Amino acid sequence: MEINKFLKTTVAAAAVSAFAGMASADDVEVLHWWTAGGEAAALGVLKDDLASQGVGWQDMPIAGGGGSDAMTVLRARVVAGDAPTAAQMLGFDIKDWAGSTGNLANLNSVAEAEGWDAVVPAALQDFSKHDGNWIAAPVNVHSTNWVWVNKAALDAAGGKAPTSWEELITVLDAMKANGITPLAHGGQAWQDATIFDAVVLGLGADFYKAAFIDMDEDALGGDMMVEAFNRMAVLRSYVDDNFSGRDWNLASAMVIEGTAGMQMMGDWAKGEFLKAGKTPGEDFVCIRFPGTQGLVTFNSDQFVMFDQGEASDSQMAMASAVMSPAFQSAFNVVKGSVPARTDVPNDAFDDCGKKGMADFAEANAGGGLYGSMAHGHANPAAVKNAIYDVVTAHFNGEYDATEAAEEMVNAVLDAQ
Ligand code: GAL
Repeated sequence: MEINKFLKTTVAAAAVSAFAGMASADDVEVLHWWTAGGEAAALGVLKDDLASQGVGWQDMPIAGGGGSDAMTVLRARVVAGDAPTAAQMLGFDIKDWAGSTGNLANLNSVAEAEGWDAVVPAALQDFSKHDGNWIAAPVNVHSTNWVWVNKAALDAAGGKAPTSWEELITVLDAMKANGITPLAHGGQAWQDATIFDAVVLGLGADFYKAAFIDMDEDALGGDMMVEAFNRMAVLRSYVDDNFSGRDWNLASAMVIEGTAGMQMMGDWAKGEFLKAGKTPGEDFVCIRFPGTQGLVTFNSDQFVMFDQGEASDSQMAMASAVMSPAFQSAFNVVKGSVPARTDVPNDAFDDCGKKGMADFAEANAGGGLYGSMAHGHANPAAVKNAIYDVVTAHFNGEYDATEAAEEMVNAVLDAQ
């Protein structure tokens, strides 16, 4: 992270924590990175739910999609002996915190009383539990292999949603010919990596697993990886010149407005479309990244509670609120994700949400569910960040595809 940005976020952390020091015992101070319109709307559902139970909210937002900046601030706070009450966290970060510091609060009492074991899918429990104890409450399941397409732009490009790489290129070419930016993208490492998740998965579930989950050297540096980078370079050619540094929600806005045709992004993007008053099927279309139908790369936002030295009622109330079936429906309808429990009806969800729930259940049952590399559910942060560096350097033209595949092996080996 640039020094300025680090200082800014760290100073902001200190300022907010000074304020948080005045919080009452019934408050929770929540560190999170949900600052875009759709994300903030979803967070509002949680704040309101807690307020109705008499639990106040001290907000600790750290902007930055994917949460890397939030994790930097969190570390600084904990090192300074000033942990927040609760923090949003992803996958391997939860494992790292649970394993290395041991200062995450044990949620077993509420989990047992409410029967979480029976309703949270095993793939999520793997990240919510440490040594058999519940240490995180999963609020949702997102997935990264989605494409969000402007409906009018798709109609003007022939009207057929692409289901294969070749069809995707045909549609992107048609959008280009129609004078719009075919692919809305923000040049930030985590966004490049989000597309890379889908491109790798599109070359086969076995390849995705071998490269990102098993970190197999042959997969990381072989012909398929070269092909994945070739495809990234092809996609790069459909992105506009001003992509560098653009936030993901601004890329979503380009698709919402129709100045761009599509965005390859996790389903938090849907929150932006909904916030803008758009309707799936009418204004926009949600499809799985072509070639990944039936497969899901998932990430689950979970809330961990930092041990405050004594059991805190407000922390337990928050954990309980997060896991209530009614809340999981209300929250995920707005957020774009799907519930983290298997017993929530899909009635309140729109067509994309219903598809998301069905896809997740199908992938979970059929062995097609994989943790997202880009969003911290395939490997620890050090490995993830090493992969980010290679993917972004290639996307910006520093390596050709062959060099990138070689660098991938070196980066992953070094980071382990
Ligand atoms: C993901 C997170 C989502 C969304 C997204 C963009 O890592 O799981 O909830 O916030 O980042 O910020």
